[in-house]
Amino acid sequence: MRIVLGVAAGIAAYKACELLRLLTEAGHRVRVVPTPAALDFVGAATWAALSGQPVLTSPQESVHEVPHVRLGQEADLVIVAPATADLMARAAAGRSDDLLTATLLTARCPVIFAPAMHTEMWEHAATRANVATLRSRGCLVLDPASGRLTGPDSGPGRLPEPAELFSVVRRVLARGTAAMVPDLAGRTILVSAGGTREDLDPVRYLGNWSSGKQGYALARTAASRGATVTLVAANAELPDPAGARVIRVTSASQLRDAMLAEAGSADVIVMAAAVADFRPATRSPAKIKKSGGAPAPIELAENPDIVRDLVAARSRPGQLIVAFAAETGDVLANGRAKLTGKGCDLLVVNQVGNGLAFGTEDNEATVLGADGSQIKLPRAPKDEISDAIWDEVAARLG
Ligand code: CTP
Repeated sequence: MRIVLGVAAGIAAYKACELLRLLTEAGHRVRVVPTPAALDFVGAATWAALSGQPVLTSPQESVHEVPHVRLGQEADLVIVAPATADLMARAAAGRSDDLLTATLLTARCPVIFAPAMHTEMWEHAATRANVATLRSRGCLVLDPASGRLTGPDSGPGRLPEPAELFSVVRRVLARGTAAMVPDLAGRTILVSAGGTREDLDPVRYLGNWSSGKQGYALARTAASRGATVTLVAANAELPDPAGARVIRVTSASQLRDAMLAEAGSADVIVMAAAVADFRPATRSPAKIKKSGGAPAPIELAENPDIVRDLVAARSRPGQLIVAFAAETGDVLANGRAKLTGKGCDLLVVNQVGNGLAFGTEDNEATVLGADGSQIKLPRAPKDEISDAIWDEVAARLG
C-alpha cells in the first residue's frame, strides 16, 4: 500500500521513525512529508534513509512532479504522527501552506491524525473545535495517550507507542473503503480487560490467567473506528492502546467501581475482563506464616456480578451491554443461559481448553444476541475478532 506519513513539528517526531520502520518492514511504500519546522526535530536525511524515498516539505520543490496533488491522490492512507495543535488548526481551516497540508487537501483515502502536545493545548477550546471539525469530515483523530510529557508535566498529550499506531494503521487498511466513514465516531465505549486480583495478605493474591489481550484489542479497534474509548484494565501488562483512555484497577471491587462510574456516559459497555468470582473473606494484614500444622483453609466471599450491576444501573437510552464467557461442555447452551441470566444484549462465548483464549494471539468465538441471533467468528487474530464484534455492535446501534 502507498502510505503518506505526515510529521508535524513536535518532539514526538522521533517516535515516527519507529512507526516508519514498522510500516516499511510490513511492505508498505511510505512517503514521509514533514512540515518545514518538523525538520528541526528529525532531519530529512533520516526520513529519506528510513523510507528509501525522497523527502519534500513544500509544493514549490520538484514542481514538475506536482507533488502536492500526486502524493494525496495516490495514497491509500495518510497518517500524521505527531499531529500538533498548529497542524490540526491549519488542516481544519483547509490551508495549504506546506506540502503536508496541501497533501491533506488532495487525499481521498482514510486520514488518521495522532495528536501529541501539552495537555493545556489539547484541552484548549480552539484545539477541541479543530479536532471536532476534522472528525466531522471523516478523519480519524485519535485521543492522545496519557503520561509523561516533555519536561516535568504529565497528562493527556503523549503520542501513543509506535507499535500501537501501526496496529491502528493495519486495522484501518484492513477495513478498506469502510474506514472512510469511522462508523463508531461520536460513540462512547467502555471496555474492561485483564483479570482481577484479590488480596489474601500483603504478598499474595487470588488471580487468573487472563492476559487482557482481547479487551485491549477491542479498545484499540474501537478507537480506530472513531469511538471515544475508556479501557478499565485489571493487571494487564500491555502497552496502552492508541486512542484509548486507560484506568488501571486491581481487584473486582475496584473494577466494579470504575465501570459503574464510567457507565453513565457509555453507549456501549463490553465486559471482557475475567472477574474473580470469589475473594478471600478477609485480607490478612500480616503475611500468613507456616504454622507447622495443616495449613489454615482460605475462607472465600462472593464478589458482586458486575455485568448484572451494570444492567441494573442502565440509565442511558439504547445503551448496549456486551459480556464474554469462556465455557466448556455445551458452549452455546451455556452461553445462551448466561446471556439470559445476566440480561445483557450480546454475549461473546468461546470454548476454553482448545489452545485458544487465555494469553494467545488468536481467538474464535460465537456472538449470541438477546434477539436470538448467533454469529460464528472463525479463528482469527484478536484484532479481527474485535472488529467482527464491533460490526455486530454497530449494526445494533443503528
Ligand atoms: N462477570 C462480572 N462479574 C463477575 C463475574 C463475571 O461482571 N463477578 C462478567 C465477565 O466479565 C464476563 C461475564 O460476566 O463478561 C461472564 O463471566 P463468567 O466468569 O463466565 O461468568 P460467571 O457469572 O462468573 O459464571 P460462572 O459461574 O460460569 O463462572
